Amino acid sequence: MKQSLRMLALLMAALGVAALFVVHSSQAKSPPTKGEMEVDYRQSLYTVLSGNFGPLGAMAEGKMPFNAVEARTRAQRVAFLAPMLKEAFPADSDGVAHTAAKHEIWTEPDEFAKKLQTLIDRTTALAAAADTGDADKIKDAVQDTAKACKDCHKKFREKDKD
Ligand code: HEC
Repeated sequence: MKQSLRMLALLMAALGVAALFVVHSSQAKSPPTKGEMEVDYRQSLYTVLSGNFGPLGAMAEGKMPFNAVEARTRAQRVAFLAPMLKEAFPADSDGVAHTAAKHEIWTEPDEFAKKLQTLIDRTTALAAAADTGDADKIKDAVQDTAKACKDCHKKFREKDKD
């Protein structure tokens, strides 16, 4: 009896130590830095942008049936989101561990701004094309927009990171 009480006490002590470890390790995780939060915001914007551009691409390629109402909604969202990228590249977000944004974005700001403006112009044109409901016009505008995405990725995004 005395023996098993001692075992129980030991077990409780071990559990107490384990619990301390859990608490300690969750506290040890440091909060994200300003740069990390900026990268998260930027990547989230691109995720939402591409989540809405994807169906437009699928419609343009005939992988999804054309639907004028959905195309218009998606195109409006893409055109709304694109200018928000202007605020998504603050200097603190350069060189953060999990970013795929190349350093050249900050050393060649004019070139980068030009490519971003091309995206903004083409997504504006895409939304206008989607307003007409004309499948061919929308398809052309989707392809022009996709070229703007690729053109910037080629120069300013790391290939092996995503
Ligand atoms: C002006 C340059 C530029 C244009 C235009 C551009 N991108 Fe990107 N994109 C980037 C950069 C830089 C990153 C890397 C961001 C990071 O990791 O911080 C990126 C990342 C992404 C990501 C990955 C996001 C993540 O979660 O890591 C997706 C998806 C994406 N872009 C889709 C698109 C689509 C779709 C378009 C066109 C509709 C587009 N991009 C247009 C520069 C651009």
